[in-house]
Amino acid sequence: YNYSEITSYLLDWYDLNARILPWRDNPKPYYVWISEIMLQQTRVEAVKPYFDRFITNLPDIKALAMAEEDKLLKLWEGLGYYNRVRNLQTAAITIMNEYDGVLPPSYNELLKLKGIGPYTAGAIASIAYQIPVPAIDGNVYRVTKRIAGSFDDITKASVQKELEKDLLVIIPKDRPGDFNQALMELGATICIPNGKPLCEKCPVMHLCRGFRNGTMCSIPIKPEK
Ligand code: ADE
Repeated sequence: YNYSEITSYLLDWYDLNARILPWRDNPKPYYVWISEIMLQQTRVEAVKPYFDRFITNLPDIKALAMAEEDKLLKLWEGLGYYNRVRNLQTAAITIMNEYDGVLPPSYNELLKLKGIGPYTAGAIASIAYQIPVPAIDGNVYRVTKRIAGSFDDITKASVQKELEKDLLVIIPKDRPGDFNQALMELGATICIPNGKPLCEKCPVMHLCRGFRNGTMCSIPIKPEK
């Protein structure tokens, strides 16, 4: 599928509809990193107060690297998946020791850090450093496969690779972070997973094969276990 027509519609929609979020006002690399880790298993609304409190108590990478474990766990209490915060501190120590205290402005270097996988590396690189790389989460799979009208199995590595390639071609060099966040935002607010997607509000409805074919609600397919 050639997604090239979606870019301008998506960015125009995002300009008008992006939610105001604490890590969006001021996308410092540290803020983007913390928010993306918190958002991995937790909804935006639940993350907001945790994010603000975390940043107030540990305002930078050095403070995170040096924090006492019980303080760290207190700040994370209620978010669950405590390995996330342990990994954050491990990575913060690596950044202090090996990267002069600065999150590396490189997709491949980010990937080497504890707790940072392809999605998070793409999100930090694109949102904090304007590097044109995709950041593919569950929202992005759903939105793009619906637009393509595709019944691809998104758990397959080959399907993931192909989507990365397709998005790399169209990601705008001047606004990669906004582009990635627009796809996520569309998936979180319009092209929603359960129940009815709000297609009549979608900026790319006219380009969407899933909508045209009436198959959008069955995409992505749930592969047999
Ligand atoms: N989910 C994870 N990261 C996000 C972001 N930056 N914007 C919106 N939803 C998200």
